[in-house]
Amino acid sequence: MTFATEDNITALAEARWGTAHDPRLRQMMTALIRHSHAFLREVEPTHEEWLAATEYLAQVGQMSDDKRKEFILLSDVLGISMLVVMQNARLPSAATPATVLGPFHIDDSPPLAFGANLAADVPGEPVLIRGSVRDLAGAPIPHALLDIWQADEDGLYEAQIPDCDARLRGIHHTDDQGRYAFWTIAPKGYAIPMDGPVGALIERTDIAYFRPAHIHFVVRAEGYVPLTTHLFREGSDYIDSDVVFGARAELVVPFVAHPPCVASDGTAMAVPYCTIDYDFVLSPTAG
Ligand code: BEZ
Ligand code: FE
Repeated sequence: MTFATEDNITALAEARWGTAHDPRLRQMMTALIRHSHAFLREVEPTHEEWLAATEYLAQVGQMSDDKRKEFILLSDVLGISMLVVMQNARLPSAATPATVLGPFHIDDSPPLAFGANLAADVPGEPVLIRGSVRDLAGAPIPHALLDIWQADEDGLYEAQIPDCDARLRGIHHTDDQGRYAFWTIAPKGYAIPMDGPVGALIERTDIAYFRPAHIHFVVRAEGYVPLTTHLFREGSDYIDSDVVFGARAELVVPFVAHPPCVASDGTAMAVPYCTIDYDFVLSPTAG
């Protein structure tokens, strides 16, 4: 008979959880035991600290629902979400890199026609975004789907505004030649939600709790790995200190400023505007 001691409890727990029937669950649970026990052996929490940690996680769970994803936010600010993204998207270097989905994506966005305006009546600095979706060899991918969403000038997503109609989000498709083009407004950087337990923890650090200005995209085409990514505004604040570690060099794009004039798509612009040119490159699915 073996009783637990401070020295052998890790091995006992690992052996016990090593009885998990599913091999993947077994791998995860035994690794969890090893690493969490190593953490506890390093920090040696008091009873009060351990109780506070469990109460903290309970608060994170209580705040989470289908709109407010506080647990995902915790995973984001700890760099866990982005590590999982990078582990699951080891794409060829020519492919557009992936980044976090974030908590504000809404399914089933309205269709956005070629050249249409994602921003409709939402105020902001107009931007024409255009380019193509291509494969690794540079061949255009016709009829690829682009699911697009972004925050408004106050840094708010539709998901954060109660009883809001579809706003600043749309489903766009590339044309026969793999091109896309749409108007929107320039995104602004914004603070992540700070009114919950994640914010309370961050307030106890010097962490800048902002994301640099960006637009979200999911790009899909049959036969290619779906791509969840952003385009970031070059020169925007916090570009090198994104609180969720999501900014990547390849995704930082210039917003080229233009005076009022006729834009390249024929739109007569009475106010200054910007253009972004960007080609998304998809990687083929294996097999
Ligand atoms: C976002 O980009 O929408 C986002 C991502 C992670 C945390 C908060 C917001
Ligand atoms: Fe965002």
